[in-house]
Amino acid sequence: MLAPSKSHIGVRSRSELITEVLLNFVTFYTVQFTIPENCWNLREKFMKNKKILVTGGAGYIGSHVVRQLGQGNESVITLDNLCTGFEAAVTAGDLVVGDTGDALLLEKIFSENEIDTVMHFAAHTIVPESVADPLKYYRNNTASSRTLLEAAARHGVKNIVFSSTAAVYGIPDGGKASEDSATQPINPYGTSKLMTEWMLRDLSAAGGPNYVALRYFNVAGCDPSGTIGQSTPKATLLVKVACEAATGSRAGVSIYGTDYETPDGTGLRDYIHVEDLASAHLDALAYLRNGGESTILNCGYGHGFSVREVLSAVEKANGEKLSISEQPRRAGDPPELIAVANRVREVLGWTPKFNDLDTIVRTSLEWERKIANRDPSAYWAA
Ligand SMILES: NC(=O)c1ccc[n+]([C@@H]2O[C@H](COP(=O)([O-])OP(=O)(O)OC[C@H]3O[C@@H](n4cnc5c(N)ncnc54)[C@H](O)[C@@H]3O)[C@@H](O)[C@H]2O)c1
Repeated sequence: MLAPSKSHIGVRSRSELITEVLLNFVTFYTVQFTIPENCWNLREKFMKNKKILVTGGAGYIGSHVVRQLGQGNESVITLDNLCTGFEAAVTAGDLVVGDTGDALLLEKIFSENEIDTVMHFAAHTIVPESVADPLKYYRNNTASSRTLLEAAARHGVKNIVFSSTAAVYGIPDGGKASEDSATQPINPYGTSKLMTEWMLRDLSAAGGPNYVALRYFNVAGCDPSGTIGQSTPKATLLVKVACEAATGSRAGVSIYGTDYETPDGTGLRDYIHVEDLASAHLDALAYLRNGGESTILNCGYGHGFSVREVLSAVEKANGEKLSISEQPRRAGDPPELIAVANRVREVLGWTPKFNDLDTIVRTSLEWERKIANRDPSAYWAA
């Protein structure tokens, strides 16, 4: 099914086609005859890029990437079944409402559009749900990824950027994970994502697309302009939950474990602002388009904050105390999970701009207030 309010893909008028042919001719002439051959950056700028298919582009992280791709004048098609995403979150390109496991729909999308890159965000993401219903996760995160990769490879897609996760490491030694650390997921969510990494590795080795798998740590924060944000239903991540408690959407917030061997006894995590994470995707795109080899990269800042530090930052930003209850440790929660994150800077030249807990919390809280006030420029689950 195509979203009714969005333009249908692949349909262009006669005059649009003529304009495009003329533009292509002028671009080709400019690149070939006026820009010196060794000026690759400049030549590349003038070359017309092909389209990018973004699966899950109506979700929290995908929508921030789609927005940045639009700002970069990339041509984007979002494929999203809206199971946890929002049509209003898609601020650039076309939206196709459909499923990554739908081989017929994928065939139509790839045959009607010249797509050189797939950015694959679509997934279920709730760890406890994956423990209760593992096959739901293997179907959506693994089997549907396989269907997507098969269609992409058949249609000669050159590059894939994949949303992987720190959950592939399980509980790393010493609480720090580098890309070379062992992958030992402790829940079906992590395993379902690791299996997709393996498919990418093997497909690429067999002559398929090159890929960058980005292993995200704890993603938080929202677009600082307030246009889009995190409205994921049933969110379990601390910053979102604490901001919901701050705005009264939930009664309070729990700390699970206050007796860890960490400076204040609560768990330490590496929180990365979603805008910085989104820019890593654009860097990965440029890297792959420039012929970069397939690789796996951690996405975090390389340092952590404790649960208490995050809650204090939310209280400071909101100007009020939170209702906090202290609970015993939860099974499977590592005391510390921090990225060793040099490689993403070295390989992609990634330069984060929002490495600051107060900024992460403030942008999340601003979005949460919009939801709490039922601001018509925001969106939320019914
Ligand atoms: N949020 C985090 O902290 C975090 C951390 C590590 C990895 N990730 C990964 O990042 C990606 C995006 O996560 P998010 O936090 O934005 O979650 P989200 O639920 O907001 O976004 C997922 C999007 O995918 C869509 N979707 C799900 N299954 C689909 C399918 N079969 N076909 C089409 N669309 C489908 C949903 O409707 C939603 O719009 C996921 O792959 C997740 O595993 C997230």
